[in-house]
Amino acid sequence: MIFSVYLLDNATHLTPASPATSGNATEYGRGELTRDELTRLYAYPDVTRPWLRINFVASIDGAIAVDGSSGGLGTPADKSVFGLLRQLADVVVVGAGTARAENYGGVRTSAAARDRRVTGGLAPVPPVAVVSARAMIDPDSRLFTDTAVPPIVVTSDDADPVRVRRLTEAGADVVVAGERTVTSAGLVDFLAERGFTRVLCEGGPGLVGQLIADDVVDELCLTTSPLLVGGGAARLAVSDHTARISMAPAHVLADTDGTILTRWVRVAAG
Ligand SMILES: NC(=O)c1ccc[n+]([C@@H]2O[C@H](COP(=O)([O-])OP(=O)(O)OC[C@H]3O[C@@H](n4cnc5c(N)ncnc54)[C@H](OP(=O)(O)O)[C@@H]3O)[C@@H](O)[C@H]2O)c1
Repeated sequence: MIFSVYLLDNATHLTPASPATSGNATEYGRGELTRDELTRLYAYPDVTRPWLRINFVASIDGAIAVDGSSGGLGTPADKSVFGLLRQLADVVVVGAGTARAENYGGVRTSAAARDRRVTGGLAPVPPVAVVSARAMIDPDSRLFTDTAVPPIVVTSDDADPVRVRRLTEAGADVVVAGERTVTSAGLVDFLAERGFTRVLCEGGPGLVGQLIADDVVDELCLTTSPLLVGGGAARLAVSDHTARISMAPAHVLADTDGTILTRWVRVAAG
């Protein structure tokens, strides 16, 4: 895969550089990136608490789905980074709406990828943790039938106990992290208790909207697919109240087909 790398040196400099954005960049010039370079560009910071990375793909006009799923937005570069991000994560967190819409299964890893993960101190395969207030997950779905490791279901006290029992019997690791819904604090506590520091959240807008509104997002990796699609698809985050969280670009990459891959990291307070 060929990526050109555009760095902050190409920016307009209309705004004076801040500590958050200066010194970010001239390590790579334009040209092809190797897998090792991409891995370095997407490496998690060395933290002891859960680092919440969100990953999304959107069209140029902001749609995050075409006909109800994100598949129509994918490009080779996006697929490549999507897979890489999974390989770098301790756990893949996803809202139940997305798991249902996209017919989620477990994370697939090659033998080589498993070896790389183990060498890097990760479990061979990251589990998928589905967030569902109602525990509305089909125990016959691919989450259970097409996975190397059991799924985790993060749910609320309000969930129907019969559904919860069925999911447990099907092999899910069921965690309660809130009363009527899964709170952001409850989710982060669960991740911390399990030692999941490299967290990858793959959406969707309901879950991510809440995480942004509650100010627990550390990073957003956003692919812009070279498409205009119109339609009525949601934005990547939807919530009842708004937040204003300053983010700094860690990198901006472009593939030869026009796909733009960005990584945004929250500006540290203070
Ligand atoms: N372009 C992309 O990269 C991308 C990524 C992800 C999703 N999508 C698209 O987004 C659409 C799905 O949107 P969505 O809003 O339904 O996504 P979602 O946020 O994945 O799902 C919402 C559902 O997830 C559960 N949920 C979310 N937050 C929760 C919380 N804090 N506590 C408890 N449960 C919670 C609830 O499930 P229960 O009803 O089971 O309680 C809720 O109904 C699909 O079209 C999908 O293709 C696109």
